[in-house]
Amino acid sequence: MRIDILTVQPKLLDGPFDHSILKRAIQRGIAQVHIHDLRAFGLGKHKQVDDYAYGGGAGMVMRLEPMIACIEALQSERKYDAIIYMTPDGERFHQSLANQISLQENIILLCGHYKGIDHRLREHIITREISIGDYVLSGGELAAAVVTDAVLRLLPGAMNDETSALSDSFQDNLLAPPVYTRPSEFRGWKVPEILIGGDTRAVEEWRHSQSVERTKKLRPDLLEP
Ligand code: ADE
Repeated sequence: MRIDILTVQPKLLDGPFDHSILKRAIQRGIAQVHIHDLRAFGLGKHKQVDDYAYGGGAGMVMRLEPMIACIEALQSERKYDAIIYMTPDGERFHQSLANQISLQENIILLCGHYKGIDHRLREHIITREISIGDYVLSGGELAAAVVTDAVLRLLPGAMNDETSALSDSFQDNLLAPPVYTRPSEFRGWKVPEILIGGDTRAVEEWRHSQSVERTKKLRPDLLEP
């Protein structure tokens, strides 16, 4: 899978894909992440990417032309399954959306800045809008990094243990069960006996019942139909 991220702040995305699971997925050729600086498509001598809002008011708006030039340059190379705008008024991101996106081949994530992007892009070019939560970030970059991470770690081969994505919280609308490692006792705090006994079926049943209990207690909304 290939993800192209369009931004006016490429440096904000320097770190997130250079570690751990995502780094490995990229090195293994399972995933590609390309960051594009929209300023390279900016207008005039100053490579302008924003302008005053028609109708007045504080805050600048991202101009159409640089974003369209970048998107069309990418589209001339390959077909994109989705052109996604990261925005607080988009559809709320969740695990099933991550699963859905992970099945696509090529996607574009567009990061907004300033007061937002010229609305005509949203009407004519953008195919989906995603929010990572009801709060406003200074730009879409951190949101794009969140979506990229949640999606790419699901790709077959990204994780060493293929089954581990399936046991994540939210995969079946349940929170993950508690996990433990050595030592089996610390300051008198003991690991539940059942995990040490070696009865894998009993462990599985225990984990499932813990998941249900934790979900009832912490996120009862997930159990509602
Ligand atoms: N850009 C600014 N805030 C955002 C949010 N909450 N989700 C997605 N993109 C954003």
